[in-house]
Amino acid sequence: MILETNRLILRKFSPRDAEALALVLSDHETMKYDPAPLDRAGVEQWIDRNLRHYADDGVGLFAMDLKTTGQLIGDCGIIRQHVENEFLYEIGYHLRRDHWGQGLATEAATACRDWAFANLKTDRLISLIRPENLPSRQVAERNGMVVWKEINWRGLRHYVYAINRGRESQSSQVL
Ligand SMILES: CC(C)(COP(=O)(O)OP(=O)(O)OC[C@H]1O[C@@H](n2cnc3c(N)ncnc32)[C@H](O)[C@@H]1OP(=O)(O)O)[C@@H](O)C(=O)NCCC(=O)NCCS
Repeated sequence: MILETNRLILRKFSPRDAEALALVLSDHETMKYDPAPLDRAGVEQWIDRNLRHYADDGVGLFAMDLKTTGQLIGDCGIIRQHVENEFLYEIGYHLRRDHWGQGLATEAATACRDWAFANLKTDRLISLIRPENLPSRQVAERNGMVVWKEINWRGLRHYVYAINRGRESQSSQVL
């Protein structure tokens, strides 16, 4: 799967992306809501896991390249998650800190949402977000999602943001 937006290309990761991805996933601030920042071996394992997701699920987190520079500046994509006894597709993202505040995460997440409703047999997409992660909640809200429920996810309180098929046209985001 390759997705193109105004400013971004979303493409499959390759092991060659480890160095550029480390600038995202080894950053303490960016990884504040993940279990921990990743070291180089952790980044390589993270890429391997996504290569397996592509093979097993047909989806995964994708490399986010900025068109103007060709640089990898984050990840955004779709993960098949098992949440409270059902399989749901989650939209997830991390953006390199020096690119925050430009609408790039929302642009990528919106493209993933539209791709997912066009290509996956699902009527609902979710994002699992810690209540205190306001920037991520705002991306979900700009992506047309609302809080569906609150759950304990891997030992921590999370909001399950969700959007149902057909609601995406009512999302007012202008990119
Ligand atoms: C979550 C994360 C990707 C959000 O990044 P972000 O830069 O705030 O989000 P966007 O790229 O959508 O940018 C939105 C901001 O750009 C501004 N903006 C500028 N131009 C814009 C445009 N064309 N379109 C939309 N927003 C635009 C918005 O007003 C908003 O600014 P604000 O935060 O001051 O309100 C980032 O904080 C991150 O990587 N966090 C760590 C990882 C993480 O928590 N991931 C989610 C786990 S659930």
